[in-house]
This record gives sequence, C-alpha cells and structure tokens, in this order.
Amino acid sequence: MVFLYGMDYEVFTVNCLQKTANIINLMLTAFLGELYMSKLKSVTHTGSVFAPSPEFLNQANLTQEKLNELNWKAQTDYTSFWGELALEYITWDKPFTKILNETNTPFYKWFEDGQLNISYNCLDRHVAANPHKTAIIFEADDGHVTMVNYQELLAMVCRFANGLKQIGVKKGERLIIYMPNSIEAVVAMQACARIGAIHSVVFGGFSAKSLAERITDAKAAYVITADAQERGGKTLPLKANVDEALQILGDKSPIKSIIVNKRTQEDCHFEKAQDIWWHNLVKDQPDTCEIELVNSEHPLFILYTSGSTGAPKGVQHSSAGYLLGAILTMQWVFDIKIHSDIFWCTADVGWITGHTYVCYGPLAVGATQIIFEGIPTYPNAGRFWQVIDKHKVSIFYTAPTAIRSLIKIDASLPKQFDLTSLRLLGSVGEPINPEAWLWYYEVIGKKRCPIVDTWWQTETGSHMLSQIPGIDKMKPGSCSGPIPGIMADIVDESGNLVKPNNNGYLVIKRPFPSQIRTIWNNPELFIKSYFPKYIANGKYYVAGDSAYLDSEERFWILGRIDDVLNVSGHRLSTMEIESALTLHPQVAEAAIVSKLHDIKGESIFAFVVCKGTACPVGDKAHELSKELVKWIIKEIGPIAKPDEIRFSNSLPKTRSGKIMRRLLRSIARNEEITQDISTLENPAILEQLKKEV
Ligand code: WT7
Repeated sequence: MVFLYGMDYEVFTVNCLQKTANIINLMLTAFLGELYMSKLKSVTHTGSVFAPSPEFLNQANLTQEKLNELNWKAQTDYTSFWGELALEYITWDKPFTKILNETNTPFYKWFEDGQLNISYNCLDRHVAANPHKTAIIFEADDGHVTMVNYQELLAMVCRFANGLKQIGVKKGERLIIYMPNSIEAVVAMQACARIGAIHSVVFGGFSAKSLAERITDAKAAYVITADAQERGGKTLPLKANVDEALQILGDKSPIKSIIVNKRTQEDCHFEKAQDIWWHNLVKDQPDTCEIELVNSEHPLFILYTSGSTGAPKGVQHSSAGYLLGAILTMQWVFDIKIHSDIFWCTADVGWITGHTYVCYGPLAVGATQIIFEGIPTYPNAGRFWQVIDKHKVSIFYTAPTAIRSLIKIDASLPKQFDLTSLRLLGSVGEPINPEAWLWYYEVIGKKRCPIVDTWWQTETGSHMLSQIPGIDKMKPGSCSGPIPGIMADIVDESGNLVKPNNNGYLVIKRPFPSQIRTIWNNPELFIKSYFPKYIANGKYYVAGDSAYLDSEERFWILGRIDDVLNVSGHRLSTMEIESALTLHPQVAEAAIVSKLHDIKGESIFAFVVCKGTACPVGDKAHELSKELVKWIIKEIGPIAKPDEIRFSNSLPKTRSGKIMRRLLRSIARNEEITQDISTLENPAILEQLKKEV
C-alpha cells in the first residue's frame, strides 16, 4: 500500500522490498536452551517516509550539527562523552573523578565516587531558579484539577520525608509504594529519594498476592498506599489489598507500618498499631528537610518486571546514571522547552515509563507536566483529546494499544477538540502498526508533529532507540536508531553483525549509565538474563528482542524472543502478523499466539477485534476469516496464515494496556487458565474468547 499525501510536508514514498528472499539460518531459541534452525520467509514491506518540518528543526534542542558532534564524541571518546554530560546536567555535591569502572563486568559502575541527591536535582535546584513555576497539573478521574508549583511540591516532599524519618525509615531501607497515579505518589517516591531510602512501586492493579510476593522479595519494611483509587468512575480498593497481602504473609511479614493516603470517601479498615494516616504523619512536620547524600551507584529504586518464566524480577537502578538517562532523553527525544511546554506522559507511576517520564525526567529538567489519574475511555473515548485541549498539552506520550482502542471506539472524536497546542507525539511499549501511526500523525498531530517511536525497557531506564525529532525522517513502525551514546546493534549468536534485513538479537555493546545494575538479590539471574553466554559470549547487554536493520539502517523491532513462533521450521514474529492484520480495513486489533500442532510444531491462532461495535458471528465470521487468511497470504505469505481466527469485542489486557498473551495462549490451546488474572482490565471478555464461532 502506498500512502499519498498533500504537499504541505515532504513525503518520500518508498516502495522497498525488505527482507527479500532471505533464508536465514538463525538460532533464536537460546532462551529455551534449544536450537532451532529457521528459515525466514521474505516479507515485502511497503511504506512511506515522513520528514519532519523545517519549523520543528529550527526550534529543536538538537540540530544536525549538535547531533553529529555528540555522535562523533561518543564514537571517539566514549567515557568522556558521558562524563561531560553528567557534569553538565546533574548537580553534584561531590563531583566524581572516575567515569566508568568496568573491572567487575557486567556489574558496571558509573561516576562511582560522586555524591548527589536525586530529589535535590528534581526540586531544590528549580525552586532556587523559579519557585512558582507549575510542576504538576493533576487531572483526577472525575476531571477535578489540582496544581502544584515547584516550591509547594518541595514542601510536600520535605514534610513527608520528615514523617518517614520520624517513624524510623533509614537510608537503604525498602518501601513499597502501592498508590494511584497522583501527586502523592510522586511525593512518596521523591521523599524516599530525599532520604536515600529505596522505593519499589507496585502498580495499583496488581493483586494482594503479587503485592505479597514483592514485599517479601524486597524485604520491605513499609508500605505507602491509599485507601482506594478512582478509575473510570469506579472506586477500587487499595488498602484492603495491602491488608490481604499482609494476611497472606502472616508471621513472615517484614512490614512495620502502613502509611495510608485518604483519596476517597470510602471507609477503610484501620489498625492503630500499624496503620498511619498520611495527613497525620505530615501534620506537624517542617517543610524543609535536609537531603541525604548518596553515592552515584546507590540504588534509587527496584521495579519488578516479568521475565519469560517464573517470578517477577526486581530490576535495580542506580541514582546518577539513571537520572542522567532521564534528563538527556527529556532534552534530546522529547525536545523539552521548560518555559513553554506542557508535557504529558500518560503512563502510571507503577511502570518504568511512569518512573522515568512522570516522576523523575520532567522534574529533573524543571518542566510542567500533567499527571492523569483516570483511563482513556472515561467518561468517553475523547478523554485524552479533551485533556490535551483543556491544558494545552504540547508533548504527548502514550502507547499504541491506547491509540488503537481509541480509533476503534470512535475515530472521529478528536475533531471535537482543539489539538493545536501539540507539537510532538510519542509512542512506547510495542511496535506501532502503520495504520495507528498514520492516524496518530494525521488526526492527532495534524501532520505537523513529529512522532518519536521510543524503544526501551524497564531494564534500560530510559530511551535507547528513537527518532531525534526534527532530524530523523520517520517510517511508521520503525523506531529509527540509537540515541547518542547508545551502541545498539543487531548480531547473531557469535556476536557478528547480521546483514541488513536479516533478523538477529538486539544488543547494546557498551555499558551505558541508565542500565539495570542487577536483579535485586539475584546477581546470577542478572547475568543469565542480560549477558547470556550463548550470545557473543556474554559480552553484550542482550535486550531479549529480535530485530532487524533495513537497508537505510533503521531498526525494526520484531518482538520478544519468547514471542517468536516456529511454524513448520519457519520463524515468525507474532507482532509482524498482528501488524499485517491490523492493516486490514475491518480489523482494529489483533493478537497472535501459537498452538501446538502435530505436524507443523506450532500453528498460528489469531484473536481479532473488528472495528465498529458488532463482533462478527456465524457466516459473517466465517467469511471474514477466509478474507483475513487471504489477506495475510498477501501481506506476508502462506507460512504466516492463521489456522484459526477468533473474533471478540476486545482483547484481555493488563491495566497498563499490555495484551495478556499467555492467557490467550491458554485459551487457544484449550488449557485451564492458571495464570494470575487479577490485573486483567476486562475479565468479562474471557467467556467470549473461549467460545468457538
Ligand atoms: C519491551 C520492554 C519501555 C517502557 C514500556 C515497556 C517492547 C518497548 C517498544 C517500541 C517496539 C517496544 C520491547 C521491549 N517495546 N518499546 N517502541 N517498539 N517494541 O517496558 O515492560 O520493560 O517492556 O517492550 O519488546 O523489550 P517493558
């Protein structure tokens, strides 16, 4: 398909045959410990390239010249590249003398003899410069708005930090934060940073059982929570889950106190011996609090994430290196202008995106940002667009899954709002399919706003691959290339670069400041997961994604290594098939899982959500199935055609918007559902998904 557009911006229509007739012998199953030889079918990609406007470039933080300079510096003098940036962008109490210590690989240390405080860098230094500048515009679920400026936010953080100290919280101790997206959640995180305590935020949609698991692993002594949370007009309990988690832990509970913020009017169970109301804790506290100096490598936080198997892993981040990644990407990728931008990252603080681009990045650069409590579809699917209009948002960062579901519900809603304040759009979390990209670009960005498709992970702490807005031409679905200083490449198992258009492992070859330091309490698993011996002999950071570079050196992410299917010896990416399906005019969303097959090894099972309200049944469903099979044969080839297609009104997703693939796999395979479905946003969908047409 070739997209043709008007003359108001430059469009390069490229019809490139990518991955042509390659038969790649690639061994991608190292994570499973087995070796499969696979042949990759050639895939034809047709796409347009979109150039950002000269107006954007004229005002951009990074000009082509500056970018070249940065890249050159990183290539020629890697450690001073980072050292100079760390001195320029971070306020140090004691500057470092060593930049990078690589003696105990892969436990790298950055700026190790430097001392700083993260909360000072996020608050005090801006209060000194501009105390009344708005730091946070909080948009509650019901539309109520609360604003705090930098001075007020600092005072809130200090009072809460003093309260924590008063109840005995010590530097290095762990606190679980189990709160809704709120100013208070940011205050709690910043207060921990101020006193050198380590936070571990657990997303409010996790169950009591998951919470208990994380409390135990982190050996946390405190939980900070709220009575309940407001989401989509519903009041959902939080404190009750904490109580239940403690009940599960029984005598083994390491928790000394629970601090409870009163968010709603609901009653909640309260026990005088261990529960403390937030408002009582801060009531008589002074609004200044001395910072605790920490070393650069002091753990700022632990954030649990799922691996391919078993229990969640506690990803441990550093202080200075992490902060540097957050600041630089706010400057380079989000092109932040602190005097004029209203920045909005829609992520919840429970995820890495909410850590880096809600709690730390925007504050560290002194920006004004929106924090949103609600969901994109409440009170209707125009909520995002309404909030952009209401607060004159200029930088908007969200996930493709949100975009796709809003298109499905009502693609015409944005027309009702004034979106002219927008100047930059961002996407994160999964590859964005070209159709959603184009809608985002045209309907939301009005063809004026560059889109940065940012690839990164909980483990990388900040963006790794992205367009540099104003400079890089955009090809929908690709996240362009590494940002300055990130030595990303695509290699085979021996660590050799793979040729353009051939799949391989996405690796980062040199240590970088914002990377994961270890898995909490499990250094062996850290090495095994991210520096596995069977890829380049453990020399590189292995992201766990397969990807390829096109002939123009653009990165295309194919998906997690563990989401790769093997059908009749052909290796296929679930994301690739999904993207092809969503190009079909009737398809809003699709998820591909595999089903065990006697002859082929695995067969492809597709779950499809159609546009509009009606989900096809009976003959209509059969007809559409046939058509989609033909479509896939046309888009990718016969090897990628689904054996079964099931239609439903929506897909099972976590509250952060990730499709629950393992759950779909169990449904496709008619297995009993054993996985935790407590974070499922829409549990009612399960019955429909189980039904054959
Ligand atoms: C995995 C990391 C990074 C914050 C949110 C997710 C996938 C992430 C992209 C993108 C294609 C992407 C990768 C990665 N991913 N961003 N722009 N294009 N895929 O963090 O839960 O740690 O997941 O998300 O597969 O490995 P996470």
